[in-house]
Amino acid sequence: MSIEKVLVVGLGMMGHGIAQTSAQAGLTTFVYDTNEGARNRGVERITDQVMGRVAKGKLNQDEAETILGRIIPVSNFDEAKEADLVIEAVFEDLDLKRDVFRALDKVMPERTIFASNTSALPISPMAAVTQRPERFIGVHFHSPVVVMRLVEVIRGLRTSDETLAAVQEFLQKVQKSPVEVKKDSPGFITNRVYMPMFNEAVWTVYEGVSTAADVDQAMRDGFNFPMGPLQLGDFVGLDTMLHILEDLHEKCGGNKFLPCPLHRSLVASGYLGRKSGQGFYVYE
Ligand SMILES: NC(=O)c1ccc[n+]([C@@H]2O[C@H](COP(=O)([O-])OP(=O)(O)OC[C@H]3O[C@@H](n4cnc5c(N)ncnc54)[C@H](O)[C@@H]3O)[C@@H](O)[C@H]2O)c1
Repeated sequence: MSIEKVLVVGLGMMGHGIAQTSAQAGLTTFVYDTNEGARNRGVERITDQVMGRVAKGKLNQDEAETILGRIIPVSNFDEAKEADLVIEAVFEDLDLKRDVFRALDKVMPERTIFASNTSALPISPMAAVTQRPERFIGVHFHSPVVVMRLVEVIRGLRTSDETLAAVQEFLQKVQKSPVEVKKDSPGFITNRVYMPMFNEAVWTVYEGVSTAADVDQAMRDGFNFPMGPLQLGDFVGLDTMLHILEDLHEKCGGNKFLPCPLHRSLVASGYLGRKSGQGFYVYE
């Protein structure tokens, strides 16, 4: 099955980027949010970004207008029934996502594939509220969506091979780099591998083994990482990092995700990383 038309549900930080990416690749992209205000804000963000590319000389005016013409705001799912794929990007709340998929399942044709952009929730419990668990999948885009190429593609327990193939083909069409996650497992690949490294880096600083700057330099110069794990944590937000670690610790047990007291102190003191002006580093 070839995906030509997409519906994005939830036009916040991730959803608007996903919609822009899809429209830029030539796909008709329906966009939906809870109300007109939220929908308009999402469309304005897309317009600003696309026009920003015109200002930088990366697109001409006609190209920008063509891209924006592919974005179709809808006020209910009925208006987007032609979509071959729905990508959900509402708040990270399992009950809310299940409600959204229940509502979509009632309206969208049987053939439409459903995908959730959850960063950490399991896919199968969302698929289970629909009549199409074999046409249900996780697509974990990374932020900022228009820049980052990786999309983790997560199979639910009942996701079919056809669904996986169609979604991978779609992601290639929109210039992304899909990586299959074969099991619906906590942290998928990226957080499972990166979070223990970040955590160990924090413990290394906490125990006085080295400074944050030297831990990051060791990882950059020793392994050719473009950025050290602590600086990346500052960029993601230390509060978000703590939330992810706590969630993984609860789901997986053991010590590898056990947050360090230094991390908790930083967050409690308002040192949240780049967004607050200070984390492991100070930002102007
Ligand atoms: N922010 C990140 O870096 C990041 C990265 C990867 C994945 N994610 C995941 O993407 C999803 C969205 O995150 P975000 O950062 O874009 O959130 P956000 O808060 O920026 O946007 C969420 C949007 O969903 C809308 N919404 C809420 N309930 C809705 C409903 N019932 N129907 C339609 N729209 C609804 C809100 O109005 C809002 O516009 C989450 O599951 C999150 O975990 C986030």
